[in-house]
Amino acid sequence: MAHYQGLIHRYRDRLPVSDTTPVISLNEGNTPLIALQRLPAQLGFSGRIFAKFEGLNPTGSFKDRGMTMAVTKAVEAGSRAIICASTGNTSAAAAAYAARAGIASFVLIPDGKIALGKLAQAMMHGAVVLQIQGNFDDGMRLVQEISAELPIALVNSVNPYRLQGQKTIAFEVIDALGDAPDYHVLPVGNAGNISAHWMGYSESVCQQTAACGLCKGQCPYHGKPLATRRPVMLGYQAAGSAPFLRGGPVRNPETVATAIRIGNPMSWDLAWAAVKESGGWFDECTDAEILEAQALLARTEGVFCEPSSATSLAGFIKDLRQGKIKPGATVVATLTGHGLKDPDTAIAQSPQPHRVAAERGAIGELIQRHL
Ligand code: F0G
Repeated sequence: MAHYQGLIHRYRDRLPVSDTTPVISLNEGNTPLIALQRLPAQLGFSGRIFAKFEGLNPTGSFKDRGMTMAVTKAVEAGSRAIICASTGNTSAAAAAYAARAGIASFVLIPDGKIALGKLAQAMMHGAVVLQIQGNFDDGMRLVQEISAELPIALVNSVNPYRLQGQKTIAFEVIDALGDAPDYHVLPVGNAGNISAHWMGYSESVCQQTAACGLCKGQCPYHGKPLATRRPVMLGYQAAGSAPFLRGGPVRNPETVATAIRIGNPMSWDLAWAAVKESGGWFDECTDAEILEAQALLARTEGVFCEPSSATSLAGFIKDLRQGKIKPGATVVATLTGHGLKDPDTAIAQSPQPHRVAAERGAIGELIQRHL
């Protein structure tokens, strides 16, 4: 089998790169699509649920998909520095890909509201880390202003190359399943990811026939095997941070799922289009529901994702209980980031370790109690 060299290499014919583009890659993508084995029955669901575990990307989140494209195109255009606002994962990916490219990175993060692992990553990869006394939305406004004035490439998902890279997740799902699933469920924060998923699925169904037209003439497929359909897109938000449910920006978003603590999503129109065109919907989950789903997945399936990622499962469980999901359906849930990103939240909600003497009798007794 050929050595896997990252998603630009693999999907080169469907991405805006040329033979001379200097590809900046950490071999991202190609993440596992894990069939959940015990949860469907436990939830009383007759269909199949797959977890697309994006936590297994090089920096531990789906952001690597967009960042390989954004940094590649920035370097191609001659940029020597990149900048982003972030709730954590984008900053980790930006810092790592900038290091890989040998250019500078500047990241704006909300002071005190970023998971520890993500902060460690940005610092370790040598980014200039700016902790602002504000939230993600404040940071987003500032980096737009700054990148308009200074020679620094903006690598938030308002940069169209980010969504181009992120759309490859849909290609991988189709490659793995042989077609699109019935439902694709995922968390929504700044809303770039749901928009990119939809872009990827939409490009895959087009067959460049006069009858199709879904891709509006942009289809990159040229007669390769295609998906026969697109999934229903379900986007889930944290209840304290749910502008799509409120119908407009939320001023002071709050949630334990800090990655999606966003009140003014940039890809508002694209995300609405994805949900509407697919026949899907947005819904919201409480912090308690999110943490419950995170623990359920970790304990029932051995898959450890961060709280924001578990929002996809939390939302699905809610919709399933309300009878909104067709029995027997195939469902893919994007698990956007690894659980190790946020050790504090994981430790705070788990049974604490037993303090015990380093002695055979005491340990034996403890084990007996748990058998
Ligand atoms: N899940 C995780 C783990 C994330 O880090 C993010 C976004 C999302 C879901 C939501 O994706 O914004 O495309 O709707 N994180 C960004 C960041 C905002 O700065 O890392 P989205």
